[in-house]
Amino acid sequence: MKTILAVETSCDETAVAVVNSNKQVLAHEILSQTEHKKHGGVIPEIASRVHMEHLGNLIRNAMEKSNLKFCDLDATAATSGPGLIGGLIVGTMMTKAIAHVTQKPFIAVNHLEAHALVIRLLYEVKFPFLVLLISGGHCQFLIAQNIGKYIKLGETLDDSLGEAFDKVARMLGLSYPGGPLIEKLAKRGNGTRFKFPRAMKKRPGCNFSFSGIKTVVKNLVRELKMSEQDVCDICASFQECISEILLDRVKNAVIMAESLNIKINNFVITGGVAANNFLRRKLKEHINLNIFFPPSNLCTDNAVMVGWAGIEMLQKNYMNSLNFAPRPRWELGSC
Ligand code: KG4
Ligand code: ZN
Repeated sequence: MKTILAVETSCDETAVAVVNSNKQVLAHEILSQTEHKKHGGVIPEIASRVHMEHLGNLIRNAMEKSNLKFCDLDATAATSGPGLIGGLIVGTMMTKAIAHVTQKPFIAVNHLEAHALVIRLLYEVKFPFLVLLISGGHCQFLIAQNIGKYIKLGETLDDSLGEAFDKVARMLGLSYPGGPLIEKLAKRGNGTRFKFPRAMKKRPGCNFSFSGIKTVVKNLVRELKMSEQDVCDICASFQECISEILLDRVKNAVIMAESLNIKINNFVITGGVAANNFLRRKLKEHINLNIFFPPSNLCTDNAVMVGWAGIEMLQKNYMNSLNFAPRPRWELGSC
């Protein structure tokens, strides 16, 4: 059995987990930085300072909760990209330092791969599987063929889906992160009242474009009195639009996989926006594949996914040298 200490600091969550190859999560510490709320988005410099301030304590707590000493670990893993460089440096350097002192292997985990693989901690999902990764920083379709082996089928041409949620929320006067608030208000709204542009719909391929929706929301905010009901109706209509776009794109992603002679049965939807229950329900209702969602707390950024990806890599003997430099850009698979 292998046990890993894992660190996630690529954006605005400072998180630490201890995970083992028996699929047990021995500790999971997470601090969601609230310092960014008043700025309406993540401020990189503030994020890296908050990571620096709290990471040491979170590691101490995680080790205590898991009842382990550093020498009991088999490896350490950190998200080493893609993400905000300041945070990546903090997490990667701290993890490397522990690896160096304890003479254990260090594993540099790709954040996108961690989002894609965490499902295998919970369910027996065999390769190959289709992944829709919808988060604040990313929006793409991948085929996961094996550990470290991915094909990118399509991605957003402008905003990520999480960004679209956050920007629409901001225009509606809601705080950051906007996704959970939009989901909540949409429950009281009429999803057929406004028609937002379904960009890319019916076009071949599975790329996305969400930037056009912002302009329509901006105009609505200017034209309407913005009663509470108006806000709820915009939220509901926005989610309705997003669900239609996703359904259209999934169909094409499956066709693209088939054209590569890859038969898709299993479909994993992950990343922060995959925590949205309305979208989960719509996708489950209309897609004829075995659909898997991680629980909401493992859809948004966390260190359990980094630990699990580390375990999968360690089992394949994939490790990194302490010279590994964090990568703010780190593609997972080429198109
Ligand atoms: O995966 P994540 O925690 O961080 C990145 O890797 O980017 O995703 C954060 C994004 C934010 O844009 C947030 O608004 C969105 O996920 N999000 C949601 C929900 N919960 C988080 N979007 C829609 N509905 C939700 N319930
Ligand atoms: Zn993420």
